[in-house]
Amino acid sequence: MNDGTLPPRLQSRKPIWWPNPDALGFDAAMARSSLSGDMVKEAELAWERFGPLLARLFPETAADGGRNRSDLRELHSIAGMIGLKRGRLLAKCDYALQTTGSIKARGGVFEVLTHAVDIGGKAGLVEKGGELSKLASPEAKEFFSRHRLLVGSTGNLGYSVGLAGCRLGFKVEVHMSHDAKQWKKERLTALGAHVVEHGSDFSQAVRAAREAAARQPNSHFVDDERSLTLFMGYAAAARELADQLEHSGIVVDLEHPLHVYLPCGVGGAPGGVTFGLKHIFGDAVRCIFVEPVGSPCMLVQLALGADRPVSVYDCGLDNRTIADGLAVAQASQLVARETRHLIEGIVTVEDESLLIWLAHMWRLEKMRLEPSAASGFAALVEFGGEIEAPNSSKEITRVVWTTGGAYQPETEFATALEWGNKLISSM
Ligand SMILES: Cc1ncc(COP(=O)(O)O)c(C=O)c1O
Repeated sequence: MNDGTLPPRLQSRKPIWWPNPDALGFDAAMARSSLSGDMVKEAELAWERFGPLLARLFPETAADGGRNRSDLRELHSIAGMIGLKRGRLLAKCDYALQTTGSIKARGGVFEVLTHAVDIGGKAGLVEKGGELSKLASPEAKEFFSRHRLLVGSTGNLGYSVGLAGCRLGFKVEVHMSHDAKQWKKERLTALGAHVVEHGSDFSQAVRAAREAAARQPNSHFVDDERSLTLFMGYAAAARELADQLEHSGIVVDLEHPLHVYLPCGVGGAPGGVTFGLKHIFGDAVRCIFVEPVGSPCMLVQLALGADRPVSVYDCGLDNRTIADGLAVAQASQLVARETRHLIEGIVTVEDESLLIWLAHMWRLEKMRLEPSAASGFAALVEFGGEIEAPNSSKEITRVVWTTGGAYQPETEFATALEWGNKLISSM
């Protein structure tokens, strides 16, 4: 039962495990949802259909038929280091997604392509059910140059919308919050996108982008707080993971549960993936969101805000974290509504733990993560025992979703790595 209070340690920025008191079995949760599993299937089919176009826009995906997929990697050395006795530990490698190097490509690229097909179809550039790669032609580019995409972002969604949008020929305007890293702004400007810098946080940047889109004709706003298209683009990742698990001979059922650790900012990416996974595995999958101690927006929303938006500022927190992708003060209301009964709970983690895990993952696995993307490891190591207690007699497969980082500049990564290594040696 949700008693509508916050865990006391939360307000003193201490890491916690918050088991979701509103979690329900899959059937009961879906009875309260306004969305359906068919919508995820439609998104999977749309991704398939986008294949030839994606391969034209992102030639690095051509060898894989224009699929925006990432590896699933078993982490033997990490499992050994943290002393896992039973079950398995794997990483879903979205940090190296070939399109834009973060999980946000699953939503952002998907929404840009969906919009391009929509307006391109209306303009007669492609026939209904026809070959979509025509949308990468010079004629289509000229058409798209008369249209604008707007988005508010801390960085990675902006890059996904910016790169896909600019390659199609759209004018792209990205509104960025004060936490956005300078290099993330610069790489967008280098693409030809217009970057609008805000001295305010993510929610304000999203609001400004929404208002700017409403003022300009031929504009499409990619709404990180409210877009169902983004949500379903992320949800389609669930089938990819399910196929990879099956391919590796990993059974998922109630006796062999799957625990998935998902970094959470505004909630769209982890929420969409959770929604998709639940439709495949039902109660055999348990999804755990991970948020920074200063920005636990989904936690405060689910703990306090059944019927109103709540921000971390309302709870005496400051939304300060080095995990720029997770620096969000107010969660998506759409995602909060859809995941309220689906997620197992939320872990909060300190910035130092992110840096330590960024360094471990580089040393042991040569995975180049950004701080946000290392958060799942910190959560598993600090609270895995407690989270797994109800399933402790079972063979658990743990998947940590590593959500971004492969394309960060060398100097940026080297600085975080040095910091992480120093923290490790001082332990
Ligand atoms: C690297 C990384 N991980 C996780 C997330 C969280 O995604 P969401 O904001 O959809 O919850 C983000 C968001 O930008 C991100 O950049």
